[in-house]
Amino acid sequence: MVRFDILTLFPNMFSSPLNESILKRAQQKGLVEIKVHDLRDFSSDKHHTADDYPYGGGRGMVMKPELIIKGIEKVTSPIEGSRVILMTPQGKRFDHAYALKLSWLSQIVIICGRYEGVDERVRKYVDDEISIGDYILSGGELAAMVLLDTVTRLIPGVLGNPGSPEDESFSNRLLEYPQYTRPRKYRGLEVPEVLLSGNHGEIKRWRRMQSLKRTLERRPDLLEQIDLSDEDLSLLSEMRKESDPSK
Ligand code: ADE
Repeated sequence: MVRFDILTLFPNMFSSPLNESILKRAQQKGLVEIKVHDLRDFSSDKHHTADDYPYGGGRGMVMKPELIIKGIEKVTSPIEGSRVILMTPQGKRFDHAYALKLSWLSQIVIICGRYEGVDERVRKYVDDEISIGDYILSGGELAAMVLLDTVTRLIPGVLGNPGSPEDESFSNRLLEYPQYTRPRKYRGLEVPEVLLSGNHGEIKRWRRMQSLKRTLERRPDLLEQIDLSDEDLSLLSEMRKESDPSK
Protein backbone atom coordinates (compact mmCIF):
# COMPACT_ATOMS: atom_id res chain seq x y z
CA MET A 1 0.00 0.00 0.00
CA VAL A 2 1.37 3.39 -1.01
CA ARG A 3 -0.09 6.48 0.57
CA PHE A 4 -0.06 9.67 -1.49
CA ASP A 5 -0.56 13.05 0.14
CA ILE A 6 -1.02 15.86 -2.33
CA LEU A 7 -0.67 19.46 -1.19
CA THR A 8 -2.33 21.88 -3.60
CA LEU A 9 -4.19 25.18 -3.84
CA PHE A 10 -6.59 23.54 -6.32
CA PRO A 11 -7.82 20.27 -4.77
CA ASN A 12 -10.83 20.09 -7.12
CA MET A 13 -8.54 19.54 -10.09
CA PHE A 14 -7.91 16.02 -8.76
CA SER A 15 -11.49 14.83 -8.33
CA SER A 16 -12.09 13.49 -11.81
CA PRO A 17 -8.70 11.78 -12.43
CA LEU A 18 -8.88 10.05 -9.03
CA ASN A 19 -12.36 8.74 -9.71
CA GLU A 20 -11.84 7.03 -13.03
CA SER A 21 -10.20 3.91 -14.36
CA ILE A 22 -6.97 2.54 -12.86
CA LEU A 23 -6.56 5.17 -10.14
CA LYS A 24 -10.10 4.57 -8.95
CA ARG A 25 -9.72 0.79 -8.92
CA ALA A 26 -6.33 0.88 -7.19
CA GLN A 27 -7.92 2.87 -4.35
CA GLN A 28 -10.92 0.56 -4.17
CA LYS A 29 -8.61 -2.47 -3.95
CA GLY A 30 -6.72 -0.78 -1.09
CA LEU A 31 -3.45 -0.76 -3.02
CA VAL A 32 -3.11 3.02 -2.79
CA GLU A 33 -4.56 5.67 -0.56
CA ILE A 34 -4.72 9.15 -2.07
CA LYS A 35 -5.40 12.18 0.10
CA VAL A 36 -5.67 15.63 -1.45
CA HIS A 37 -5.08 18.52 0.96
CA ASP A 38 -5.98 22.17 0.39
CA LEU A 39 -2.88 24.22 1.18
CA ARG A 40 -5.07 27.12 2.28
CA ASP A 41 -6.14 25.04 5.28
CA PHE A 42 -2.62 25.48 6.62
CA SER A 43 -2.59 29.28 6.48
CA SER A 44 -2.96 31.15 9.74
CA ASP A 45 -4.41 34.48 8.53
CA LYS A 46 -8.15 34.85 8.14
CA HIS A 47 -7.95 35.58 4.41
CA HIS A 48 -6.08 32.31 3.80
CA THR A 49 -3.48 34.14 1.76
CA ALA A 50 -1.38 31.74 -0.27
CA ASP A 51 0.98 34.06 -2.12
CA ASP A 52 2.76 37.36 -1.72
CA TYR A 53 5.00 39.81 -3.61
CA PRO A 54 8.61 38.78 -4.16
CA TYR A 55 11.28 40.43 -2.01
CA GLY A 56 13.52 42.46 -4.27
CA GLY A 57 10.64 43.24 -6.57
CA GLY A 58 9.84 41.80 -9.96
CA ARG A 59 6.88 40.29 -11.72
CA GLY A 60 4.50 37.72 -10.32
CA MET A 61 3.74 36.29 -6.94
CA VAL A 62 5.51 33.76 -4.75
CA MET A 63 3.83 30.97 -2.78
CA LYS A 64 4.27 31.61 0.93
CA PRO A 65 6.54 29.16 2.79
CA GLU A 66 4.40 28.66 5.92
CA LEU A 67 1.49 26.88 4.29
CA ILE A 68 3.68 24.43 2.45
CA ILE A 69 6.00 23.69 5.37
CA LYS A 70 3.12 23.33 7.85
CA GLY A 71 1.36 21.11 5.32
CA ILE A 72 4.39 18.86 4.95
CA GLU A 73 4.74 18.58 8.73
CA LYS A 74 1.08 17.79 9.15
CA VAL A 75 0.86 14.99 6.60
CA THR A 76 4.29 13.36 6.83
CA SER A 77 4.30 10.29 9.03
CA PRO A 78 7.46 9.52 10.96
CA ILE A 79 7.70 6.23 9.10
CA GLU A 80 10.42 4.78 6.96
CA GLY A 81 9.99 5.11 3.26
CA SER A 82 8.40 8.55 3.12
CA ARG A 83 9.45 11.05 0.45
CA VAL A 84 8.53 14.68 -0.14
CA ILE A 85 8.47 15.73 -3.79
CA LEU A 86 8.11 19.23 -5.20
CA MET A 87 6.72 19.40 -8.74
CA THR A 88 8.63 22.13 -10.57
CA PRO A 89 10.03 22.73 -14.06
CA GLN A 90 13.39 23.23 -12.31
CA GLY A 91 13.44 19.62 -11.11
CA LYS A 92 15.09 16.43 -12.34
CA ARG A 93 13.31 14.92 -15.32
CA PHE A 94 10.69 12.31 -14.37
CA ASP A 95 11.26 8.87 -15.85
CA HIS A 96 10.34 5.20 -15.52
CA ALA A 97 13.32 4.32 -13.30
CA TYR A 98 12.39 6.98 -10.74
CA ALA A 99 8.70 6.00 -10.87
CA LEU A 100 9.69 2.40 -10.14
CA LYS A 101 11.69 3.49 -7.06
CA LEU A 102 8.70 5.47 -5.78
CA SER A 103 6.38 2.50 -6.22
CA TRP A 104 8.16 0.73 -3.33
CA LEU A 105 7.75 3.57 -0.82
CA SER A 106 5.07 3.69 1.86
CA GLN A 107 4.31 7.40 1.60
CA ILE A 108 4.75 9.98 -1.15
CA VAL A 109 4.03 13.63 -0.37
CA ILE A 110 3.61 15.76 -3.49
CA ILE A 111 3.70 19.56 -3.41
CA CYS A 112 2.11 21.33 -6.34
CA GLY A 113 3.79 24.66 -6.96
CA ARG A 114 1.77 27.52 -8.46
CA TYR A 115 2.25 31.07 -9.58
CA GLU A 116 5.77 32.15 -10.43
CA GLY A 117 7.30 29.87 -7.86
CA VAL A 118 7.55 28.90 -4.22
CA ASP A 119 9.57 30.56 -1.48
CA GLU A 120 13.09 29.13 -1.68
CA ARG A 121 13.05 28.09 2.00
CA VAL A 122 10.56 25.33 1.18
CA ARG A 123 13.35 23.44 -0.57
CA LYS A 124 14.94 22.56 2.78
CA TYR A 125 11.87 20.39 3.53
CA VAL A 126 11.81 18.65 0.18
CA ASP A 127 13.60 15.41 -0.79
CA ASP A 128 13.26 15.57 -4.57
CA GLU A 129 12.32 18.21 -7.15
CA ILE A 130 10.72 16.71 -10.23
CA SER A 131 9.84 18.07 -13.66
CA ILE A 132 7.76 16.14 -16.18
CA GLY A 133 9.32 17.86 -19.17
CA ASP A 134 10.85 21.00 -20.59
CA TYR A 135 7.74 23.13 -20.77
CA ILE A 136 5.87 25.27 -18.25
CA LEU A 137 2.50 24.21 -16.89
CA SER A 138 0.29 26.66 -15.02
CA GLY A 139 1.03 24.69 -11.90
CA GLY A 140 2.29 21.40 -10.51
CA GLU A 141 -1.17 19.76 -10.38
CA LEU A 142 -1.12 18.17 -13.83
CA ALA A 143 2.49 17.09 -13.27
CA ALA A 144 1.48 15.51 -9.95
CA MET A 145 -1.28 13.58 -11.75
CA VAL A 146 1.23 12.26 -14.28
CA LEU A 147 3.45 11.05 -11.44
CA LEU A 148 0.50 9.61 -9.52
CA ASP A 149 -0.78 7.67 -12.51
CA THR A 150 2.64 6.37 -13.58
CA VAL A 151 3.63 5.21 -10.08
CA THR A 152 0.25 3.62 -9.33
CA ARG A 153 0.40 1.44 -12.47
CA LEU A 154 3.71 0.03 -11.20
CA ILE A 155 2.44 -1.02 -7.78
CA PRO A 156 2.18 -4.83 -7.71
CA GLY A 157 -1.44 -5.92 -8.08
CA VAL A 158 -2.73 -2.72 -9.66
CA LEU A 159 -2.67 -4.04 -13.21
CA GLY A 160 -3.55 -7.52 -12.05
CA ASN A 161 -0.30 -9.13 -13.21
CA PRO A 162 2.24 -9.31 -10.37
CA GLY A 163 5.45 -9.97 -12.32
CA SER A 164 4.63 -7.39 -14.96
CA PRO A 165 7.15 -6.77 -17.73
CA GLU A 166 7.10 -3.14 -16.66
CA ASP A 167 9.45 -4.13 -13.85
CA GLU A 168 12.20 -3.70 -16.38
CA SER A 169 13.55 -0.25 -16.90
CA PHE A 170 11.90 1.60 -19.76
CA SER A 171 15.27 2.20 -21.30
CA ASN A 172 15.74 -1.58 -21.57
CA ARG A 173 12.66 -1.91 -23.68
CA LEU A 174 11.88 -1.42 -27.32
CA LEU A 175 8.90 0.64 -28.42
CA GLU A 176 5.67 -1.32 -28.82
CA TYR A 177 4.86 -3.13 -32.07
CA PRO A 178 1.74 -2.11 -34.07
CA GLN A 179 -1.56 -3.55 -32.81
CA TYR A 180 -4.74 -4.31 -34.78
CA THR A 181 -8.25 -5.43 -33.96
CA ARG A 182 -11.38 -6.12 -36.01
CA PRO A 183 -12.43 -5.33 -38.69
CA ARG A 184 -9.88 -7.05 -40.87
CA LYS A 185 -10.29 -4.43 -43.57
CA TYR A 186 -11.26 -0.85 -42.81
CA ARG A 187 -11.51 1.87 -45.49
CA GLY A 188 -9.16 -0.15 -47.64
CA LEU A 189 -6.60 -0.53 -44.85
CA GLU A 190 -5.78 -4.16 -44.10
CA VAL A 191 -4.40 -6.03 -41.13
CA PRO A 192 -0.97 -7.53 -41.93
CA GLU A 193 -1.40 -11.08 -43.22
CA VAL A 194 1.01 -12.62 -40.73
CA LEU A 195 -1.25 -11.70 -37.78
CA LEU A 196 -4.05 -13.77 -39.32
CA SER A 197 -1.82 -16.77 -39.99
CA GLY A 198 -2.14 -18.40 -36.58
CA ASN A 199 1.60 -19.12 -36.73
CA HIS A 200 2.74 -17.99 -33.31
CA GLY A 201 6.44 -18.23 -34.09
CA GLU A 202 6.05 -16.05 -37.17
CA ILE A 203 3.85 -13.56 -35.31
CA LYS A 204 6.39 -13.26 -32.50
CA ARG A 205 9.21 -12.68 -34.99
CA TRP A 206 7.18 -10.10 -36.92
CA ARG A 207 6.33 -8.21 -33.74
CA ARG A 208 9.92 -8.17 -32.56
CA MET A 209 10.98 -6.92 -35.99
CA GLN A 210 8.37 -4.15 -35.93
CA SER A 211 9.48 -3.10 -32.43
CA LEU A 212 13.08 -2.96 -33.56
CA LYS A 213 12.16 -1.03 -36.68
CA ARG A 214 10.03 1.50 -34.79
CA THR A 215 12.69 2.01 -32.15
CA LEU A 216 15.39 2.41 -34.79
CA GLU A 217 13.32 5.01 -36.65
CA ARG A 218 11.89 6.96 -33.71
CA ARG A 219 14.14 6.45 -30.71
CA PRO A 220 17.60 5.28 -31.80
CA ASP A 221 18.86 6.57 -28.42
CA LEU A 222 16.92 3.74 -26.71
CA LEU A 223 18.37 1.11 -29.04
CA GLU A 224 21.88 2.00 -27.95
CA GLN A 225 21.10 1.11 -24.33
CA ILE A 226 19.44 -2.24 -25.01
CA ASP A 227 21.11 -5.66 -24.86
CA LEU A 228 20.19 -7.07 -28.24
CA SER A 229 20.08 -10.84 -28.75
CA ASP A 230 21.74 -12.56 -31.74
CA GLU A 231 18.27 -12.95 -33.19
CA ASP A 232 17.61 -9.19 -32.82
CA LEU A 233 20.88 -8.41 -34.54
CA SER A 234 20.00 -10.70 -37.42
CA LEU A 235 16.52 -9.13 -37.66
CA LEU A 236 18.13 -5.70 -37.77
CA SER A 237 20.48 -6.72 -40.54
CA GLU A 238 17.55 -8.28 -42.43
CA MET A 239 15.75 -4.96 -42.08
CA ARG A 240 18.71 -3.03 -43.41
CA LYS A 241 18.89 -5.42 -46.37
CA GLU A 242 15.19 -4.86 -47.06
CA SER A 243 15.64 -1.10 -47.12
CA ASP A 244 18.85 -1.36 -49.17
CA PRO A 245 19.20 -4.70 -51.03
CA SER A 246 22.87 -4.00 -51.91
CA LYS A 247 23.84 -4.59 -48.25
N1 ADE B 1 5.12 22.98 -12.85
C1 ADE B 1 5.09 23.76 -13.94
N2 ADE B 1 5.65 23.17 -15.00
C2 ADE B 1 6.06 21.93 -14.56
C3 ADE B 1 6.71 20.84 -15.19
N3 ADE B 1 7.08 20.87 -16.46
N4 ADE B 1 6.98 19.75 -14.43
C4 ADE B 1 6.64 19.73 -13.12
N5 ADE B 1 6.02 20.72 -12.48
C5 ADE B 1 5.72 21.82 -13.19
